[in-house]
Amino acid sequence: DNRKPFIAGNWKMFKTGSEAIKTAEELVKLVADVTDTEVMIAPPFTALSAVSDVVKETNVSLGAQNFFWENEGAYTGEISSAMLLSAGCKYVIIGHSERRQFFGETDETVNKKIKTAISSKLLPIFCIGESEKERISKDTFSILDKQVSKGLKGLFSDELQHLVIAYEPVWAIGTGKTATREQAQEVHLFLRSLIEKKFGNLLAKSLRILYGGSVKPDNIAELMAMPDVDGALVGGASLNAETFGKIVHF
Ligand code: G3H
Repeated sequence: DNRKPFIAGNWKMFKTGSEAIKTAEELVKLVADVTDTEVMIAPPFTALSAVSDVVKETNVSLGAQNFFWENEGAYTGEISSAMLLSAGCKYVIIGHSERRQFFGETDETVNKKIKTAISSKLLPIFCIGESEKERISKDTFSILDKQVSKGLKGLFSDELQHLVIAYEPVWAIGTGKTATREQAQEVHLFLRSLIEKKFGNLLAKSLRILYGGSVKPDNIAELMAMPDVDGALVGGASLNAETFGKIVHF
């Protein structure tokens, strides 16, 4: 397989433009030596262009945290894929659990966004994950099966070559409760088998699956040591360049 490790930072609703520039400048220096891991940061919309200038021609790529599936129009407050591309984005995070929980995103809206991202050549980071209640009631696998089936509905394996999946158990996000490496591996293996069943072995072998949920410098190495964990989507610990740099250097 050719699954290059991928460490992505999701800055969520943190940092003004000048704060974002400062962190990005520090990070670029701290990870300049890294060649065998892909590094991405997703600042808020208002900082994208400025951070793009900082990371341009470095080994750090830029992502957005969300977008809308229409190309343009009377959609007050929304951002299109063309706008993200022209602001320097390569990736876009789609269907993060916070978007599902607070902003009404559903498997259906996630599916539309994944399709638009692919057709506009913005690389999607497709987020899925079960809640604490769903894990306790042993519904983890059926929930993930539903999220994957609906999220990728109508898509074919040759369109999904650049898809990245982020598995983020909702109970582990921002809570300090990380899934154990065994819990992460178990789910990642399940997801890879699910992709194999739906889209074939070739895609399953090359698809990168990131883990997200309280990833820190002191737990990243053990997570990355698991055979089906290909990287991490990091929230809180990506806000500080030094901390995130340590995670990148796992
Ligand atoms: O997108 C990132 C995840 O929601 C994880 O956030 O690292 O703060 O737990 P966290």
